[in-house]
Amino acid sequence: MNICVVGAGYAGLVTAACFAEFGLRVTCVDKDEKKIESLKQGKVPFFEPGLEEMVQRNMAQGRLSFSTDLAWGVRNSLVIFICVGTPSKEDGSVDLSAVDEVAAQIGEALDGYKLVVTKSTVPVGTTRRVEAIIREKSKGKYHFDVANNPEFLREGSAVEDFMRPNRVIIGAESDQARAILRDLYSPLYLIEAPFVITNIQTSEMIKYASNAFLATKISFINEMALLCDKLGADVYQVARAMGLDQRIGPKFLHPGPGFGGSCFPKDTRALAHFAREAGVELEIVEAVIRVNKRQREWAVKRIEEALGGIQDKTVALLGLTFKPNTDDIREAPAIYIAQEILTRGGRLRAYDPVGMENASHVLNGNVTFCSDAYDAATGSDALVIATEWNQFRNLDMDRMKELLARPILVDLKNIYDPERIRDKGFAYYGVGRN
Ligand code: UGA
Repeated sequence: MNICVVGAGYAGLVTAACFAEFGLRVTCVDKDEKKIESLKQGKVPFFEPGLEEMVQRNMAQGRLSFSTDLAWGVRNSLVIFICVGTPSKEDGSVDLSAVDEVAAQIGEALDGYKLVVTKSTVPVGTTRRVEAIIREKSKGKYHFDVANNPEFLREGSAVEDFMRPNRVIIGAESDQARAILRDLYSPLYLIEAPFVITNIQTSEMIKYASNAFLATKISFINEMALLCDKLGADVYQVARAMGLDQRIGPKFLHPGPGFGGSCFPKDTRALAHFAREAGVELEIVEAVIRVNKRQREWAVKRIEEALGGIQDKTVALLGLTFKPNTDDIREAPAIYIAQEILTRGGRLRAYDPVGMENASHVLNGNVTFCSDAYDAATGSDALVIATEWNQFRNLDMDRMKELLARPILVDLKNIYDPERIRDKGFAYYGVGRN
């Protein structure tokens, strides 16, 4: 079967490469000529473990190709996945202009039956809107179906998440659409991945409800951490013990400087916004957003408190990306923290294994990008861990103590044992375990 994936961003490229790996013939289309040119050379424009190899392998075997010609991609495919960007607007709503534009182009290119699937995270009702645009542009000449098939990929483990999903959600309302989508995902039957088949609105809603619930777990534990700090409890043990209750589960209960990335912040804002438009105030989701904002502000205060003021101090900042194993800095708490330190007259010696290039475009001022964690620590007044890259988990703290001007560790990801670090003569500041 031939499929077309529109949008060679994060979700689109992973989807295209993984479907090709399933043995389908995939054309991945993007209007960005430079990006397509570089993909044609087998170069993936961002860091995602295992993806570039998969792209190159499937290109070499003739199952994956790249093009800027959307009409051609549509005509050569039975199924078209819309994976274009859906950025946040100022008011929290989702900018659907790219989705609308692609829908219009699909409508104009339509030359027979197609199944058009929204895969980008889109507000409930968007797939219907895509359907209306295609119908208008194709002047009702051809039969087509629309469906929603949200993705649940995490950056840093996207290939694994696609290949071994917890579930596949299919929002489709015709037998033909459901049959085609089941067929596309048939390799996953072997690993017994559960399929949930719903109507389109429900499927769109499942994605938002899932992300908002995960974000809620994070904001909840972050709020508990603030209280633990005040009352002398250890949130690490609180979270671990809570997680042993199978009804709660251990995942997404790690406190820190708040959630970032291209999904949770945007999706919680969008959900709150389209709920409000529907006349429903989502009290919990609104609180999750507020708590997350407060948490990153708290992180800066924590650093300020540890240093006795930021002005003229040098901070060794480890980690700039929104999480490990990605070079993505979108809405990263680390970037917010870095900017606040600079605004308050501090200096930064920053290090991230792959995020420094992206960070260098947004951080201006007194920043030195360093060659490793030890280089960052040299002469700094405190060591701050903002992203839990594996290579930061076993730092030689004796060496760090010698390199730092002052032995202070602000561990915003709670990756070190406070007692062991204090025994080495450090002042230790974690999250909810002081
Ligand atoms: C998230 C979801 O986990 C995916 O299932 C979903 O497909 C994706 O959004 C999306 O909508 O496209 P992602 O943003 O890549 O994936 O990253 P996560 O691993 O979920 O982490 C999000 C943020 O939460 C990070 O800043 C991370 O540091 C933070 N986090 C996560 C915590 O602070 N504590 C935790 O316990 C877990």
